[in-house]
Amino acid sequence: MCDSETEPEGRQLTLDTFAVPTVLLLFYICQMRTQVAIIGAGPAGLTLAHLLHRSGIESVIVEHRSREYVIERVRAGVLEQATVDLMVAAGVGDRLQREGMRHDGVHIAFNGRRHRIDFAELTGGSAITIYGQNELVKDLIEARLHTGAPLFFDSDNVTLANLREPRAVVRFIHRDQEYQVEADYVAGCDGFHGISRPAIPATDLRIYERAYPFAWLGILAEAAPSSHELVYCLHDRGFALFSMRSPQLTRLYLQCRPDEDAQDWSDDRIWSELHARLRTDDGFTPTEGRIVQKAVTGMRSMVAEPMRWQRMFLAGDAAHIVPPTGAKGLNLAVADVARLAAAIEAFYRDGSARLLEGYSALALARVWGAQRFSWWMTSTLHRAPDGSEFDYRRQVADLEYLVSSRAAMTSFAESYVGARFDFSHGHNVARTSCSS
Ligand code: APR
Ligand code: PHB
Repeated sequence: MCDSETEPEGRQLTLDTFAVPTVLLLFYICQMRTQVAIIGAGPAGLTLAHLLHRSGIESVIVEHRSREYVIERVRAGVLEQATVDLMVAAGVGDRLQREGMRHDGVHIAFNGRRHRIDFAELTGGSAITIYGQNELVKDLIEARLHTGAPLFFDSDNVTLANLREPRAVVRFIHRDQEYQVEADYVAGCDGFHGISRPAIPATDLRIYERAYPFAWLGILAEAAPSSHELVYCLHDRGFALFSMRSPQLTRLYLQCRPDEDAQDWSDDRIWSELHARLRTDDGFTPTEGRIVQKAVTGMRSMVAEPMRWQRMFLAGDAAHIVPPTGAKGLNLAVADVARLAAAIEAFYRDGSARLLEGYSALALARVWGAQRFSWWMTSTLHRAPDGSEFDYRRQVADLEYLVSSRAAMTSFAESYVGARFDFSHGHNVARTSCSS
């Protein structure tokens, strides 16, 4: 085994390493063989590796960034019921169950009023759990390191080859050592900016995209959350979202321009804008605290079709991006790899490629359901720069209908909590939803 994150510091070339001298015996390529090479150690890659390991399937994870970077990257924090259930069933849900905050509903605010949508009641007991994506990533990395299976952080010059051949090849450089991994399959879990999606010839790939003319200023504040549940708000001044990370940390978002610099937002300006947009007539407004982080994030929708090309399967942000309204990104990534892991397991267990062949179409069905919902939430809750008063009044009417119709609330709740996973027959069985 060549040196990876799971081994002590220092390069080791041992018996199962084929050291091939290249440049005057000064340079060696460390060769490895595995069943699945996974590119990227975000939620998609790490969850896939964990599920495969539990089924006795070997993998090698190759990650460009450092372990610290991957763990500290602050992202969304809403887990659907199916995501929580999967993590618990896979033995990585202990801390999530202890520290995650279960929410049985969510608030929608407009015209100065808050309206609660009760997920548990409308969906027969489903809920969401607030648990930072980086916390989940931390748990998954720990689980991976515990297995001793290869996980290479800080990998550079990652390239894919032989995707049409019986064995795909992944090459990369890690701590000045060149590596070559041969694999039956490659899982492209390397996010929107990765190399996997671009490795598919343009003639075989179709990209569906939409950019939004606004962005989110994300704020992390050391303040006890002043609402037990999330508050999504449409205001004349733009969208605002009240969320949280823990009983001591409030997470907030403000609609802003995509070209804005977070540094132009002083703490005073942030709090006054948050109060102006989020305050409601029941006395709710965010509690102030020290702002420990602020950053602007753009918003887009993207779907790449197909999600399989030859020996490579795309999963997570590598294949699709949703705008963050509705927090579907992480959950879609987990849904993809749960399906992919089931398909790969069936292949090695029974020699049947049926689920692998169905992966792309069935994963895309869920993806488009989530795209629909994320697009609807985004366009209904934001003020477009070229939007008219008519548009605003129509958006308010849409929200009035949502909070006054049980049918509309049920539809919203089903989409928000997400469909459960059941891949045993090669289908998404939407026990609570038909849309995501
Ligand atoms: N080689 C190796 N690793 C790479 C490369 C590369 N060329 N390019 C990118 N990566 C790594 C990134 O550093 C990142 O750690 O792939 C990982 C992809 O992780 P994510 O971007 O978190 O994507 P994914 O695992 O699909 O998770 C989706 O993340 O973006 C959020 O909101 C999104 O919550 C959703 C989730
Ligand atoms: C978050 O807490 O970061 C969050 C919550 C809900 C969203 C997006 C992000 O829709």
